[in-house]
Amino acid sequence: MAKLELESIYYRYKGADKDVLRDINCVFEGGKLNTIVGPSGSGKTTLLSIMAGLDEPSQGKISIDGKDLKDMDLDEYRRDNISMIFQAFQLFPLLTALENVSFPMEYKGIDKEKAKEKGIEVLNSLGIDGDKQSRYPSNLSGGEQQRVAIGRTLATGAKVILADEPSGNLDDENSDRIIDILKKLAHEQGFCIVIVTHDMNIVKSADNVWRIKDGTIEMTKNNLSKGLDI
Ligand SMILES: Nc1ncnc2c1ncn2[C@@H]1O[C@H](COP(=O)(O)OP(=O)(O)OP(=O)(O)O)[C@@H](O)[C@H]1O
Ligand SMILES: [Mg+2]
Repeated sequence: MAKLELESIYYRYKGADKDVLRDINCVFEGGKLNTIVGPSGSGKTTLLSIMAGLDEPSQGKISIDGKDLKDMDLDEYRRDNISMIFQAFQLFPLLTALENVSFPMEYKGIDKEKAKEKGIEVLNSLGIDGDKQSRYPSNLSGGEQQRVAIGRTLATGAKVILADEPSGNLDDENSDRIIDILKKLAHEQGFCIVIVTHDMNIVKSADNVWRIKDGTIEMTKNNLSKGLDI
């Protein structure tokens, strides 16, 4: 199972006078649902971007399954290991639900018909079935669009899923459904899932809760009776 490890990570935006992230140490393992919480501006999205290989830390080491990212081609790392889910779903508006899922597979060199078959299977498993598969994202509900976005991440074969406020635009019912899906992917299929969220329902479901404050991170015991300031 995938394991993403961060050691003494520092990050400073160009031109900024102080570090956004300071001495970040954490391990995210496959099979676990991890959440990252913390106040607005504390560096959560920055941390996810670094984990996704979209940017390099100013200092420190990131490794996947023991392999240092510095020794890897970042494009390949992103393509083969990481998939991202965003608050605004970020589907291609001019592709149907099915094409949104099959396109990344074709991009990776999978035969068009096979990609379509796999896309149908993945979408069916997420409850996006029948004519919904041939609809454009704008003709699907928010919850359905987010499930298509999850389908797209599954189709890529990446074992690490990074999600930035995946339920931020959803009502409680759709949010619960997304949590259920992500939880199953972690617990039953061994995905390594890291979710940045303010959603208490997701935090309650998490195996590990990491809290960022003043640029540093610590594991918070998932003990809600004491109250979590998220
Ligand atoms: N491109 C940038 N250049 C300079 N500073 C930036 C840039 N992007 C973000 N920041 C700053 O870095 C800090 C962390 O931002 P980040 O987006 O990671 O916060 P966040 O925890 O995701 O917040 P939120 O909960 O509001 O999404 C903030 O102070 C922000 O102003
Ligand atoms: Mg953010």
